[in-house]
Amino acid sequence: MDPLLLDRDAELGELGRRIAAARSGSGRVIVVEGPAGIGKSTLLAATARAARADGTIVLWARCSPLEQDAAWGMARQLFEPLRIRPEWGELTVGAAGLADRALAPEGGAPAPAGDAMHAAARGLVWLVSNLAERSPSVLVIDDVHWGDAPSLRWLALLAHSLEELRAGVLCAVRVGEPVAAPELLAELLASAPEPPVRPRALGPVATETLVRERMPAASGGFTRACHAVTAGNPFLLGALLTELIADDVVPDDDAGAQLGTFGSEQVARVIERQLARLPDGPALARAVAVLGATPPRSPGWSSTKPPTRPTRSAPQVFSTTRPSWRWRTR
Ligand SMILES: Nc1ncnc2c1ncn2[C@@H]1O[C@H](COP(=O)(O)OP(=O)(O)OP(=O)(O)O)[C@@H](O)[C@H]1O
Ligand SMILES: [Mg+2]
Repeated sequence: MDPLLLDRDAELGELGRRIAAARSGSGRVIVVEGPAGIGKSTLLAATARAARADGTIVLWARCSPLEQDAAWGMARQLFEPLRIRPEWGELTVGAAGLADRALAPEGGAPAPAGDAMHAAARGLVWLVSNLAERSPSVLVIDDVHWGDAPSLRWLALLAHSLEELRAGVLCAVRVGEPVAAPELLAELLASAPEPPVRPRALGPVATETLVRERMPAASGGFTRACHAVTAGNPFLLGALLTELIADDVVPDDDAGAQLGTFGSEQVARVIERQLARLPDGPALARAVAVLGATPPRSPGWSSTKPPTRPTRSAPQVFSTTRPSWRWRTR
């Protein structure tokens, strides 16, 4: 089943329009940009589904900080599913055959530098051109800021040839993330003819829907508090709800009023990493305020279910495991 996608009509419409233009021969780079957890990957996936349904060939890669030093890792992810298909031989005729220097593991060490790398990149450009001649195609690259340098160089090169092709390069980039190859990434992003699509924060109604999906008894005050403390960031909202459900919190107005004390060591750590990258970290930090060393406030949480473990108040959960950092509510 497709994941729930709320408050994204405008973004999907805009991306659909750009993909349609690329499909019809006005190829382009399309950028989705936003802070951690705002819903970039989810938006990419929905756009890719719609494109596939329209008969577009969609190739997908997701870059990772663990793989950004692996030369051609992104390109290999993109083309792997095609390499095992019977038409691969036709796609790699002529100059496109040079792409194998980047893609073929059996071809010895992949071409990492200098002329060999340039030839491989040229081959990959021809490969995309051959592919787009057969069928409109979109290369989707999630977390492109973690792309390996040779692949980014190839994409920047490809961007210059896209205009005449029935092909799009749809990439998601997280703002504020340290980048290994900033110049190559900047060159790629600058080649997009239109400004990035920026997924918006979820509104109060969408937040309420997501809260009630997981906590059907949630009160109005509780859902409004969830919206306020997460600033409509769907990742933070999910993390918050997971924690509250694990702690058997009754989702009433009192609990909403206490959301500033939400947290768990595990979720707090995840969110701490995310917060470090978010532009409005301090505001979002109210969602993960951890009491810890200070005397716990009156817990206020009450349980709807029979306790399966010793009853804990949210503050008590952290009194022994509190991370060294601490956020204060305003
Ligand atoms: N429009 C939406 N409606 C409902 N849930 C959403 C929406 N967008 C994202 N989510 C949920 O929020 C969470 C984070 O989304 P996603 O992974 O797409 O964010 P992201 O911006 O790609 O994060 P990151 O910067 O870590 O890559 C996921 O669990 C996803 O299902
Ligand atoms: Mg993502």
